[in-house]
Amino acid sequence: MRILGIETSCDETGVAIYDDEKGLLAHQLYSQVTLHADYGGIVPELASRDHVKKTIPLIKLTLAEAGLMQKNLDGVAYTAGPGLVGALLVGATIGRSLAYAWNIPAVAVHHMEGHLLAPMLEDTPLPFPFIALLVSGGHTLLVEVRGIGEYQILGESIDDAVGEAFDKTAKLMGLNYPGGPLLSKLAEKGDSTRFTFPRPMTTIPGLDMSFSGLKTFAANTIKMNGNDTQTRANIARAFEDAVVDTLVIKCQRALKQFHMKRLVIAGGVSANRHLRIKLKELMSSIDGQIFYPRMEFCTDNGAMIAYAGMQRLKNGEHTDLSVKAFPRWPIDQLTSIKSEN
Ligand code: KG4
Ligand code: ZN
Repeated sequence: MRILGIETSCDETGVAIYDDEKGLLAHQLYSQVTLHADYGGIVPELASRDHVKKTIPLIKLTLAEAGLMQKNLDGVAYTAGPGLVGALLVGATIGRSLAYAWNIPAVAVHHMEGHLLAPMLEDTPLPFPFIALLVSGGHTLLVEVRGIGEYQILGESIDDAVGEAFDKTAKLMGLNYPGGPLLSKLAEKGDSTRFTFPRPMTTIPGLDMSFSGLKTFAANTIKMNGNDTQTRANIARAFEDAVVDTLVIKCQRALKQFHMKRLVIAGGVSANRHLRIKLKELMSSIDGQIFYPRMEFCTDNGAMIAYAGMQRLKNGEHTDLSVKAFPRWPIDQLTSIKSEN
């Protein structure tokens, strides 16, 4: 079974072809970063218009990269939510229409399920059950995963998502959008003893998180200490340490509470080097295992959508002829794929 995956939920157009026997055959990504850079954040209308321009050419490129033609495909998977409604509708309309024209089924994929399953694009098997930490620009979720589609949300951010907090703090420091990776790079030169930021909601029980206060803390620290290069690096370091520590504490708590020894991290922020190191240390200290996608599949991409779509198509799911997008779509509303357990 060969599936074409289309991702257009935010500011990246991603296309890939996944074969259930041979694995990933081809993938292409077009990032809109330069398009939005002047505005310091994503402009939804510009994002939608750019997806309109880029999706079909990327599909052609991906087919060529795989050495395939449309008749070699068995299904089309597209991200139907959550995300920016206009951007989602572009991928949904193109995906649904191509599947209709090619007389193959189409399936609507949940973006965060795509992230969650991205480690399965690697050869290492990923055994259920596990705890997943999903950290992206729009979501911060701790999930108990018992099988594909069997998701129980254990905790989430009550305000900014982790990636959003990274980006907003980076903006305060004058870094370009998306500032997460740039802030993290700056933090490498910072002195970790210079400033100490709070670890929000770690002294109270529970698995919910809060990150918007750290951004305010960074703003106040800049106001009081200036914004020269070394001070900025020190602030970046203190911010990153606080975020990473908070996530480690919450993961440790979830693993303990649910008697689990396997942790999956996915989503854009799982590309953060410091977070990966600290969570690896946590997992080795409890004799557990950690899984994450390869770097390029941490952030948005078409491969994870093709993979998740393949699982759902194999389960007999497909969409009718209507084109729908779900800007808000809780991950625990997905149906379970029993055969996977
Ligand atoms: O999953 P993703 O590509 O898009 C969404 O679904 O939102 O995540 C993008 C987010 C951005 O906020 C970006 O700044 C953050 O992931 N990010 C990072 C790093 N790489 C990407 N944050 C911190 N450190 C990184 N190395
Ligand atoms: Zn994402």
